[in-house]
Amino acid sequence: MKNTKTLWVIILVLTVVLAGIALKFIVLGSTSPANDGRTEVLLDAGERKLVLAEMRQLLSATQQITEGLADNHMNQIAAAASEVGMQATTTMDVRLKAKLPLAFKQLGFATHQAFDDIAAIASDAKQVAATGGLTEVKTDIQRKLAETMNLCVACHSNYQLPPSGK
Ligand code: HEC
Repeated sequence: MKNTKTLWVIILVLTVVLAGIALKFIVLGSTSPANDGRTEVLLDAGERKLVLAEMRQLLSATQQITEGLADNHMNQIAAAASEVGMQATTTMDVRLKAKLPLAFKQLGFATHQAFDDIAAIASDAKQVAATGGLTEVKTDIQRKLAETMNLCVACHSNYQLPPSGK
């Protein structure tokens, strides 16, 4: 009887520890309050470099998409958007993922997913173009891009990546 009780106590303690680990690595990440009201995400120098490089790719894709809209180049839009789609997240290191707070990861994944959506609309547009409905498709892409950029805005107004990697 006594042993069963001890076993339950051990199980309980382990469960609490595991829940704590899950909370830390899945939900909280590695953060500290920034002096401008945002939240600092604390990464080491290499990880920060990687995330910022990914950011510049997002900016470049956004540029390509707006240019494609102006020039009616649906192929350019599809190519640029799919480059920063969900496939771009598959290389992300688990250790880096563990340092990102849950809301940051959700905003990040939603952004990559949105670019896949843009790529899909642009790919469909190739057929639509033949039937003269390109204007509508372009409006769809513009609206989706505006929504997507709300995610850039939301994340940037909430998070910062301090250089020190403290
Ligand atoms: C999940 C959060 C998140 C999303 C979504 C996000 N960013 Fe960022 N981005 C950041 C953070 C954090 C920084 C660092 C800002 C800082 O330290 O002040 C950053 C920095 C950048 C930089 C500067 C890169 C450099 O080399 O310094 C660019 C450009 C950028 N983002 C573009 C974008 C664009 C365009 C989008 C949307 C298509 C986007 N980001 C979406 C979090 C995000």
